[in-house]
Amino acid sequence: MTTTIGIIVGSLRRDSYTRKVATAFSQLAPADITLRMIDIADLPLYNEDLETTPPPAAWTALREAVAPCDGVMFFTPEYNRSVPGALKNALDVGSRPYGQNVWAHKPALVVSVSPGAISGFGANHHLRQSLTFLDMPTLQQPEAYIGNVTNLMTGPDQFVPATTDYFKLILTQYLAFVAKLA
Ligand SMILES: Cc1cc2nc3c(=O)[nH]c(=O)nc-3n(C[C@H](O)[C@H](O)[C@H](O)COP(=O)(O)O)c2cc1C
Repeated sequence: MTTTIGIIVGSLRRDSYTRKVATAFSQLAPADITLRMIDIADLPLYNEDLETTPPPAAWTALREAVAPCDGVMFFTPEYNRSVPGALKNALDVGSRPYGQNVWAHKPALVVSVSPGAISGFGANHHLRQSLTFLDMPTLQQPEAYIGNVTNLMTGPDQFVPATTDYFKLILTQYLAFVAKLA
């Protein structure tokens, strides 16, 4: 049976460093892992008044994309020491209607990315706080703080070998974690 892992990127920016890190991870995944990039850019802001039959199409698309995943990898930049609103909104959309939390029980990976030295620590841990409530068991070690990201790149999409090795270590540990919880 193949394992399907969703990838969610918290930055909507075209040339996002966070997206480049997510892409590098996806290129390192073994062939028996199916990766599913889940777009969060077009989700209307969560509003219970819109939770009608049917709800906004983009909400349904997100919920239907997450549901079949065996795990979800989150890649987030840090906005004002927290996660971008777009990412929080995606979490909120997937968590409702009440009792139909689509994230529940899916093992998660949190990777924070920043050009700064603090490495998105605030975003990383704010995201972990939400994932706790969403009932997503989250890989504890190795923690994934990708700081000074511009210094880790050798080209527009290329990371230095030591960083690629580190990505591989994180990914290997995460996939083992997913397998253990399956
Ligand atoms: C609204 C906003 C708030 C930001 N706040 C932080 C912050 O708290 N910590 C940080 O390290 N970088 C912060 N930055 C800088 C981002 O790390 C930088 O823009 C980064 O490139 C965003 O990630 P991306 O390249 O994946 O889009 C902020 C950027 C924006 C636009």
